[in-house]
Amino acid sequence: MSGGVVAASAPGKIILFGEHAVVYGEPSLSLAIDRRMHVTGEATQGPTTVNGEALDPHHHAYIHQALQLVAGGHVRLTTASELPSAGGVGSSAALSVAAVAVLLHLKRGTAPPLEDIARTAFEAEYATQGAASPNDTTVSTAGGAVLLSPTRLAQGRFLWRIERGERVWHAHGLDVPALPLVVANCGVRGRTAEQVAKVRRTVESDAGARDVVRAIGEITREGVQALAGHDLKRLGRLMNRNHEALHALGVDIPALARLVDAARKVPGTYGAKLTGAGGGGSMIALTERPDEVRRVLEGMGATAFRAIATSRGVEVRP
Ligand code: MEV
Repeated sequence: MSGGVVAASAPGKIILFGEHAVVYGEPSLSLAIDRRMHVTGEATQGPTTVNGEALDPHHHAYIHQALQLVAGGHVRLTTASELPSAGGVGSSAALSVAAVAVLLHLKRGTAPPLEDIARTAFEAEYATQGAASPNDTTVSTAGGAVLLSPTRLAQGRFLWRIERGERVWHAHGLDVPALPLVVANCGVRGRTAEQVAKVRRTVESDAGARDVVRAIGEITREGVQALAGHDLKRLGRLMNRNHEALHALGVDIPALARLVDAARKVPGTYGAKLTGAGGGGSMIALTERPDEVRRVLEGMGATAFRAIATSRGVEVRP
């Protein structure tokens, strides 16, 4: 392992369309946002530590998996986050991506290719959560707007293809849109692994839920067209439909539903939906009046911010 400190940062994300359905081979469309996870690391002779504490495989599950996968020896790691944890905006994926970037750089003595980071971070997420798509780790690695699809498409810039079991996902980078979006966290922690497991049980036992998953795929495909045409009204209507579908899958909770309803009532709002795994976490609103929506949602106790899409993916340097 090379000497010296390596520092990496990776962005959080919002999912515009397709969460959960992407685990079952439907497409998803996501944006990296300008809030980041920072990780630094250096080789050590002593035990591996995270923020000065001995590594705990449960408490530091994503980092533990990243270390198992990269197998580079003992390290002293520090993390600092601008993202809420279990908040639906990709903090665990950003942590996996930034940690993997640091560990691969320390092991190889040079900046690793993005594709290696994306694959290894996906494996770390999968191992930690028991199931996942490469959506969050791909967006956090590549930055920008990312379309994941079961087949390779003519749209955008082809990034890479990731397989797991019977599934294959093709990642495409799209032009980064300037969308007026507000993100609001409802204050309830949404645990991705639990929500993914819950949806899996429903999808395996209920044909109606499988239809909902396919309907989300259709909404996402329409969303890609609406985004290409910068058709905010259509995007908003599709976000509303995507939210109702996620509600039908059982990942909406009253605290999120109240924020979604309130945002939709602000004149100038095109649409709103939960984003990420649900069960808590965050919602997003597409609106001409982001400041007002933010005020309304904060007045209801949410933590809200204007989401700015970023083309900056993972960055790693000695
Ligand atoms: C979580 O941000 C997105 C999910 O679709 C899970 C995944 O894709 O791994 C719910």
